[in-house]
Amino acid sequence: MITSTERVNPLRDPLDRRLPRIAGPCVLVIFGVTGDLSTRKLMPAVYDLANRGLLPPGFALVGFARRDWEHQDFAKIVHDAVQQHARTPFREEVWKQLSEGIRFVSGEIGNDDSVRRLRDTIAELDEARGTGGNHAFYLSIPPSLFQTVVDQLREHGLAEQRYGQWSRVVIEKPFGHNLSSARELNRVVSSVFPSSSVFRIDHYLGKETVQNLLALRFANQLFEPVWNNNYVDHVQITMAEDIGIGGRAGYFDGIGIARDVIQNHLLQLLALTAMEEPTSFQADQLRAEKQKVLAAARPPKRMDLHTTRGRYVGGWQGGKKVLGYLEEKGIPPSTTTETYAAIRVDIDNRRWAGVPFYLRTGKRLARRVTEIALGFKRAPHLPFSSTDTEELGYNALVLRIQPDEGVTLRFGAKVPGTQMEIREVNMDFAYGGSFTESSPEAYERLILDVLLGDPPLFPQHEEVELAWEILDPILDFWASLDTPPDGYEPGGWGPACADEMLARDGHIWRRP
Ligand code: BG6
Repeated sequence: MITSTERVNPLRDPLDRRLPRIAGPCVLVIFGVTGDLSTRKLMPAVYDLANRGLLPPGFALVGFARRDWEHQDFAKIVHDAVQQHARTPFREEVWKQLSEGIRFVSGEIGNDDSVRRLRDTIAELDEARGTGGNHAFYLSIPPSLFQTVVDQLREHGLAEQRYGQWSRVVIEKPFGHNLSSARELNRVVSSVFPSSSVFRIDHYLGKETVQNLLALRFANQLFEPVWNNNYVDHVQITMAEDIGIGGRAGYFDGIGIARDVIQNHLLQLLALTAMEEPTSFQADQLRAEKQKVLAAARPPKRMDLHTTRGRYVGGWQGGKKVLGYLEEKGIPPSTTTETYAAIRVDIDNRRWAGVPFYLRTGKRLARRVTEIALGFKRAPHLPFSSTDTEELGYNALVLRIQPDEGVTLRFGAKVPGTQMEIREVNMDFAYGGSFTESSPEAYERLILDVLLGDPPLFPQHEEVELAWEILDPILDFWASLDTPPDGYEPGGWGPACADEMLARDGHIWRRP
């Protein structure tokens, strides 16, 4: 028997990543289809996949929600979402084919009649569209409802793994509120679906530039020799947003930005930056390396010195008056939720001992930017007079995840003239300048991988637990403080305490 790791002829491999990968016939059911994620990301991504020819004619999309809609009302909602948010141009013939497989089931989670109607609709589609009995259930709903939904799927025979067919479940972060609730959530889901059928979405892993991190590190000989504590002084991982919480008070307050994005996106970026080379990009090997490095990463010993949090106050941003967090609709005055967080993580292994990884994220900052910056140690000896090199900082390799996707190398160069004066310059790679293809949206890639059953880009439960082990003590420390998070002005780079945190270590934050 040939196992998945022993495939002999890559050209015959249905998962060969050099070939366009087309999903087989199936039904995608979205629970929580009236939510923002579904309208802005999921429906447009389904259309974009269809437009790129990556969905088969037998594909079907089912929305499940509490609305009193007919199939055509839902099709109209999908149509509008596609027109507004799809990445690729609208083509009538693509839409026509897709819309023939669109259905809506009006129902309540927890109501048996509703799930029976869902089951009948799926059976009708299996028959009409030849889906082969393959079904994916996307739970775009609060985690508190997972148990009810997966139990009902089981009771109605929709979670069964029948021979030659598949049934998969897709869940969105947050994967729990802390370590113990993450374990409970996993228990609930895995009591019904085997782990190979559970796809946890962290949409950062679907971003092209995040996958390019693997190419940069492991397809080149140039970077690996300096990718360690002999050369790297410290690493800064930044995810900044210029928006506030918008209408998401109900979700965001009580969660806070550390749970919202550090637990998942930023710790995944850290894992990909710091892990050892996997033997291959097969899911098991990639995940094993991520797990190893997350297990070696630890929260700061001095929480008071190496963690900070803040929340935005009202003011002006980009010429507009904006509300402070406490004035946003639906936020209780007593809240202590943070909208900015910066933490130091150390990795106790031979490669990274002594190299701090600084992670920061915030809402209402100066601009939207995500980047990973490796700051290198200074040259051991500088044969220049101190005035020549006054401007010189440290060499840096910056992976620009978004926007302006690309890579920058910053180093010192001689200023033209008779003096030996050194100044910092940038060497740039920009995706737009080197490739004509535009990057697919993260959700396109991830939904396609779910339908193909291709797991490398989906974190496993073990990674989720390890990430909570890093974050939980920090959240406990913050919860024990009597003071609320420090205020910071909109349109800047966060609270002063975050600058002080880095200054204590002799560093400054980058201003991307
Ligand atoms: C989500 C967070 O996971 O990522 C949001 O819940 C955040 O708070 C969003 O705004 C940012 O995603 P992106 O792809 O725009 O960087």
